[in-house]
Amino acid sequence: MKGLYIMTISEEIRRLNLPPILKFADGRDVTAENWPQRRDEILRIFEEHEYGCSPRGPFEVTGELTYKREDDYANKVLTEKYRLTVNDTAENVSFSFPVVFHTPYGGRKKPLFILINFRDQTPDEYMPVEEITDRGAAVAMIYYNDVAEDANDDFKSGVGPLYPRDKYDWSKIGMWAWSMSRTLDFALSLDRYNERKIACVGHSRLGKTSLWCGAQDERFKYVFVNDSGCSGDAVTRGKTGERIVHITNAFPVWSNDKYKEYRDREDEMPFDQHMLVAAVAPRHVYGGTAVLDTWADPYSQYMSYYLANDVYKLLGMKPADFPDRRPDTGERFMGGDIGFHMRHGAHFFSREDWQCYLNFMEL
Ligand code: GCU
Repeated sequence: MKGLYIMTISEEIRRLNLPPILKFADGRDVTAENWPQRRDEILRIFEEHEYGCSPRGPFEVTGELTYKREDDYANKVLTEKYRLTVNDTAENVSFSFPVVFHTPYGGRKKPLFILINFRDQTPDEYMPVEEITDRGAAVAMIYYNDVAEDANDDFKSGVGPLYPRDKYDWSKIGMWAWSMSRTLDFALSLDRYNERKIACVGHSRLGKTSLWCGAQDERFKYVFVNDSGCSGDAVTRGKTGERIVHITNAFPVWSNDKYKEYRDREDEMPFDQHMLVAAVAPRHVYGGTAVLDTWADPYSQYMSYYLANDVYKLLGMKPADFPDRRPDTGERFMGGDIGFHMRHGAHFFSREDWQCYLNFMEL
């Protein structure tokens, strides 16, 4: 419905007193020249206060082919399953997990989506393989529980026990994000994907994961964040639906200990999630939301992109044409280097979301 909500988004934002993206913590102004330092500062803030510190490697990643089908999807797609082994040469530990790749045939190097997913199956309702490969893109899927179980297990599963917690207080979101970067290490070693069209993508808790991964790893040129909401792309201050108290009580392992101190004290946070969306700049970032996803709160999600747009303006990139009002159901903002849509319906990773992401990448 149009026009029911009369306050402008900039007025809503002004009332929240958010930490500015375009000021350093010490109050200095951010310019196009010093944006890389500000981006770095933002990433350190999120590492310290929310997602925890992940291992930095260097990593050597190898893949053992465990399954291959050359005539998949009407002979148009090569399907391969690999067991990746990541060797952290700094810490002298190694960890293995499976990844499935679907790569369409054809001459040029293919765009690649790295998807972290909820189920160990392909195709999957969140991974419409044919619709992706018919647009000329490849997709590599990780099943998140293969990396670290989504359970309150004191980080005792998967990659967790390999690293001391006093040095690496990484959350499960940090672990899942790490596996996306390691998958990219391997994918690039295959020398068949287009480095200018590498995307990370995930839905909900895995949308938060995709955002944390893509904000950190600059090799991802497109970062797609589907229905991620609280502790993902939604501004936390003033948020409706899920808040820090809910998410940290139900899912304490998704964040580090520091984050729990902000339960009902959001106003004291030296950050908010709009800064993480901005940290993807100057690469592409895109938020998919759904009008009925009130737990995630699409309007607070929109605020993040609306604010991050200022960085795209500052850097002389193509900003989005975001209106200074709440988005309407069905609206899509696709024309810039940053994008957003609010589709009909509820919390889900739909075909419609995928079509928007493929369109945004101009595939
Ligand atoms: C829960 C959680 C959300 C999360 C969602 C999901 O609803 O509260 O933060 O995004 O699960 O991952 O599906």
